Amino acid sequence: MTADTKNYSYLSGFGNQHASEALQGALPVGQNTPQKVPYGLYAEQLSGTAFTAPRAENQRSWLYRIKPSVCHTPFQQTPSPNLVRSFATGRADSECESTPNQLRWSPFPLPTHGGVDFVHGMHTLAGAGQPSVRNGLAIHVYLANQDMHASAFYSSDGEFLIVPQQGRLDIQTEFGHLMVEPNEICVIPRGVRYAVRLPDGPSRGYILEVFDRHFELPELGPIGANGLANARDFLYPTAAYEDKDDLEYTIINKYQGQLFSIHQPHCPFDVVAWHGNFAPYKYDLRRFCTVNAVSFDHLDPSIFTVLTARSSTPGVAIADFVIFPPRWMVAENTFRPPYYHRNCMSEFMGLISGVYDAKAEGFLPGGASLHSTMSAHGPDAATFAKASTEDLKPFKLRPDGLAFMFETSLMLSLTKWALQKDQPGGKMLQANYYECWGGLKKYFDPKNRDGRWGEESKAEQAGKK
Ligand SMILES: [Fe+2]
Repeated sequence: MTADTKNYSYLSGFGNQHASEALQGALPVGQNTPQKVPYGLYAEQLSGTAFTAPRAENQRSWLYRIKPSVCHTPFQQTPSPNLVRSFATGRADSECESTPNQLRWSPFPLPTHGGVDFVHGMHTLAGAGQPSVRNGLAIHVYLANQDMHASAFYSSDGEFLIVPQQGRLDIQTEFGHLMVEPNEICVIPRGVRYAVRLPDGPSRGYILEVFDRHFELPELGPIGANGLANARDFLYPTAAYEDKDDLEYTIINKYQGQLFSIHQPHCPFDVVAWHGNFAPYKYDLRRFCTVNAVSFDHLDPSIFTVLTARSSTPGVAIADFVIFPPRWMVAENTFRPPYYHRNCMSEFMGLISGVYDAKAEGFLPGGASLHSTMSAHGPDAATFAKASTEDLKPFKLRPDGLAFMFETSLMLSLTKWALQKDQPGGKMLQANYYECWGGLKKYFDPKNRDGRWGEESKAEQAGKK
């Protein structure tokens, strides 16, 4: 398949050993490195794990391409003012700060001037650890309004999980094409080169980058063999190549939190055939089979885990990607919104569309919130009053909306950009977020086990009408 006829066909199955060829017979048969690769191609291995990783975890792909990736000019550092090299805090030259405060951001402002592509519109918001020791993660947002042209990007630092919020992403990768729209996600493994085009114009979204391991499907335990994200719904691109050597192509590499660029006279998307299990993929979040309580109580959000990046401690994630999808709420005698809690994990949340059930206002599509390790949070006063007094009939929650969470066992540091209250084009950090809990009243009455808050709240609700 050449560039003139983009191929958005997909191979199905999470983590499978996939194989695809854009020219019939391009894939060597029965071996990876024949003396002569069909059609005069070069063989190149892309390793996602150490050569000696256990078979069940081993990831690699073989790419059969027109020119090997090594044909390029030396790396040169290029400005990267929106990224950080270190999440360390507490020094005069620190790029980040730490705060246990509950934080909430208004929708991240799109660029006020043209010419900002996916790479240069990427802003690091928070993170922990560092890629040089393969430990930690970074959370970015991208705010872009221009296609990447004659260029490609890859991260040596980690695997990217990309969550578009506004605008589709037309992603050309070495492995083929992916079209990813809001309500879908894609994962681009470490090292895979890609270019992002914006068919819908100005675009915004969130990125979770993990510096070690890979995103995996969570264990299902007592749920059984089915449910949550099903493996067959993960889609991998089919091979597509461009045989072009008419331009100077720029490849930008994110390496230890900095950008470096190289140049080459041939198109980097020249892979005619590939096989392996280390490849980019996408997933439609609307295919998530939601499991929840059908009797009583609000269960923990781990039941909504789409993908997880495990740590070395069993059951503890470097980061989970969790969604809060449309679903029926049926629990009886239950406070249905999220309970008040203090979590040993850090919770970064974003909203794709609609409204979120724990907040009456202020948490908007394209914005975000962060509730850090052991920092208390929960429903705001208005939500508590409503959920404590409403009649508990079954209802469909957020039928057209979707919220998500990056939940991590690490403690996040915030970049200076993230802690700015104003940006050109709009507001960012909400200074008064904490006030949403200020209206929570004391209802305790040792002489009245049935409580009096319900009636008071009902009266207040009636008074507002
Ligand atoms: Fe929470």
